[in-house]
Amino acid sequence: MGTDRYLTFALGKGRLAKKTLELFEKIGITCEEMKDKESRKLIFVNEKLKLRFFLAKGPDVPTYVEYGAADIGIVGKDTILEENRRVYEVLDLGFGKCRMCVCGPEKAKELLLHHERIRVASKYPNIAKDYFYNKKHQTVDIIKLNGSVELGPLVELSDVIVDIVETGSTLRENGLEVLEEICPLSACMIVNQVSMQMENERITTLINALKDALKK
Ligand code: PRP
Repeated sequence: MGTDRYLTFALGKGRLAKKTLELFEKIGITCEEMKDKESRKLIFVNEKLKLRFFLAKGPDVPTYVEYGAADIGIVGKDTILEENRRVYEVLDLGFGKCRMCVCGPEKAKELLLHHERIRVASKYPNIAKDYFYNKKHQTVDIIKLNGSVELGPLVELSDVIVDIVETGSTLRENGLEVLEEICPLSACMIVNQVSMQMENERITTLINALKDALKK
């Protein structure tokens, strides 16, 4: 395969995108166009390196990568686990570190301990289902929310939540706490399965360069 083909990157919008671009700069991959905050453009191109970048909603990144609309995606491990797409997960980028946890008021500890049929609110219903059904063998009712999940126990929609905890301040400020830890999370790089074969050399070189930059 010649180098005429563009390698396309899908980046999850938000905090991770900024860090990703900083990391790419360290290995000489820049995309000046993308830094322009006023721009409404959706796709950014580095003609010289034959690279294209686009920003997408986090949960859509694995979808673009599975279908080959992007060769490479950078997104949080939480989204990778939740979406469960057929992609290769090739590199942990080490930033965006946080934890997926079961959280709630202290009194909910008992409910977890006794495997009660509780209500669990989460933006991550698949992760919640896998944890309670497959790991804990506890039957629960899962309620999908789209954000501000901490509200769940506060307004008695749910007994607990399954959510990301980074600093823990959202929990603290709302009288909630971590009750159980599900798994650690960070930003990861995913690759389309066909691209990994067709563009193996370019992608492997990129992965190795990123690994070296991460060591420094
Ligand atoms: C995330 C997460 C928690 C919060 C955790 O929410 O869902 O609410 O950050 O961070 P902390 O432990 O540092 O307080 P996000 O800001 O992405 O918004 P959302 O609640 O609308 O999903």
